[in-house]
Amino acid sequence: MDPRSEVLLRQADLFAGPLLLAGAPADGLLAQLPQAQAWSWNAADHGALAGRFGGRCHFGTEVPAGSFSAAVLFLPKAKDLASYLLDALAARLGGATLYLVGEKRGGIEGSARLLQGYGAPRKLDSARHCQLWRVDVATPPAAPVLQALAQRFSVAAPGGALQVVSLPGVFSHGRLDRGTALLLEHLEGLPGGHLLDFGCGAGVVGAALKRRYPDSRVSLLDVDAFAIAASALTLEANGLAAELICGDGIDAAPSGLEAIISNPPFHTGVHTHYAATETLLRKSRQCLQKGGEIRLVANSFLRYPPLLEEALGNCQTLAEREGFRLYRAAKA
Ligand SMILES: C[S@@+](CC[C@H](N)C(=O)[O-])C[C@H]1O[C@@H](n2cnc3c(N)ncnc32)[C@H](O)[C@@H]1O
Repeated sequence: MDPRSEVLLRQADLFAGPLLLAGAPADGLLAQLPQAQAWSWNAADHGALAGRFGGRCHFGTEVPAGSFSAAVLFLPKAKDLASYLLDALAARLGGATLYLVGEKRGGIEGSARLLQGYGAPRKLDSARHCQLWRVDVATPPAAPVLQALAQRFSVAAPGGALQVVSLPGVFSHGRLDRGTALLLEHLEGLPGGHLLDFGCGAGVVGAALKRRYPDSRVSLLDVDAFAIAASALTLEANGLAAELICGDGIDAAPSGLEAIISNPPFHTGVHTHYAATETLLRKSRQCLQKGGEIRLVANSFLRYPPLLEEALGNCQTLAEREGFRLYRAAKA
């Protein structure tokens, strides 16, 4: 069980009424707290929880409907996302209790200060390298409007400047990642047909693809509901339309792709995690049409070429800059 869940269960008698677990890990906590419901914005966690606990699990960027006597936020990595989620929960909990649990190395001590806006926070427990905080919500904030927290910026892309709209918690919020910039400079010569932006974040690559290849079907896939919401805003800001898929890994993608273009994930929460990218590379042969290709940018130290060579029998380095490499591998 996740150590944050273990810390909650040490205080299980506090959670007798209807409880919302926001950002709960995909473990057995819901089995121990039968009065609790879960709210996830990560499709992998949601899929795992819904498989076990069905209708007790909600998915999306907004607090689910219903009335709760308390909510627990599992502290996310991004501070601005934590701030949005705490405001969204506290806005619904006037006179009720909001808990915050997180790992010390994830910054729980500092983030607990965010609770001061709603009442007088208290640390309830510290164990398993985690802390649990509580605040009785005396002064609920106004419910935050997610779109009002969007950051907008412009990037150079094939065909001219592209407007990017990003949201709290989304990769490279408010600025263009240097790896993505390198990828945007190398979108020429892709095969026509169905193109996938794998791990689309705020949708910058997918939007650039749709503009450069307007006749191609373009899909944008991400595990994070906030990324998909940001991608929808980015497409709209540029007058583009494409398919948005919120799902876990390449298994959630449509089949018969002509090209997979990606700045793929390598961090999950506070842990380094390559599984989604390794699975993508390993399954690339199955996902691509004959003559199709995968083009991806990654930190130079990541050992992706051997995986691509194993999967597709080739791997070319198209460009290299500032610690990033752009790889291309084709299905013969
Ligand atoms: C390095 S970021 C790139 C974002 C965007 N393409 C860009 O270049 O700005 C990788 C993205 O992959 C997403 N991701 C992580 N795990 C995933 C998974 N299992 N399935 C799909 N997307 C995932 C993350 O949410 C993140 O948005």
